Amino acid sequence: MQKLAFVALLSLSTFAFADGGLLKKDCVSCHNISGPAATTLKELWAKKGPDLFYAGNKYRQAWLVSWLQKPQRIRPAGEFYEDHIKPGAKSDEIDVTTLKDHVALSKEDATEAAAELMQLKPHDDLIAKEKIEPGTITKQAGEMVFDKFWGCMACHLIEPEYGGLSGPELYTAGQRLQPEFMASFIRNPQAWQPKTWMPNKGVSEGNIQKMVHYLQALSEESANAK
Ligand code: HEC
Ligand code: HEC
Repeated sequence: MQKLAFVALLSLSTFAFADGGLLKKDCVSCHNISGPAATTLKELWAKKGPDLFYAGNKYRQAWLVSWLQKPQRIRPAGEFYEDHIKPGAKSDEIDVTTLKDHVALSKEDATEAAAELMQLKPHDDLIAKEKIEPGTITKQAGEMVFDKFWGCMACHLIEPEYGGLSGPELYTAGQRLQPEFMASFIRNPQAWQPKTWMPNKGVSEGNIQKMVHYLQALSEESANAK
């Protein structure tokens, strides 16, 4: 009896893999893996998690494997911002008690999920257009470009408690993201996400390069601080 049940279970999970694997089984209730979840504002508000359909063009695989085992918050207010604002609180105060922790995977599952995610590459075309020039930038000059010139800090944290709250934190972006993706997303967010709060600010090529160098430097700094 027991043996039979085991065989049945085994074939069930093989079936799940044949059918698209772990992502389809455990992740698509919150993440879209085949196209943008939102093309209208209404859909944007209804999103349960960030889109993953271009994950292979976006993330560093090693980061995925480690984050999926030990997820740390990236979007300080979750995906659905207004849900987590404290009623009556001064503006932008987040009610962290309403935020749920992300599911953590075993090493095997994280490795499998990361491998599946890295195959999702609908935008090799956009990535191929980017060329990251080698270079460095001082923290001060980077902040000038990022904050003073282009106002990016209104929505992004550059330290765990410093910056805006409506976008993903950017102090680990260098570990998380492929540099060509950063450049392409800054150049034209709507090419990746038809509906997103991030504006296309028309950042010049030279400043895009500086921002990528700055985000990479920030990440090294936060890794050293640990
Ligand atoms: C209950 C809904 C839910 C489920 C199920 C879920 N996620 Fe998530 N996921 C989220 C939310 C919400 C975030 C944003 C979390 C944050 O910003 O810290 C997120 C973030 C992520 C991110 C980082 C995205 C980014 O760039 O901000 C990855 C990668 C990810 N999830 C992968 C997965 C995988 C793989 C699975 C299936 C094993 C999964 N998730 C299952 C809700 C979910
Ligand atoms: C009005 C708020 C807002 C402003 C201003 C803004 N962003 Fe964003 N940014 C966002 C949001 C929201 C996302 C997440 C988009 C998504 O995945 O749908 C994002 C995503 C990003 C990402 C990708 C990060 C990731 O993990 O997905 C980078 C890089 C980035 N922004 C850089 C910048 C830079 C550089 C500027 C200044 C030129 C800027 N942003 C200005 C809201 C903003």
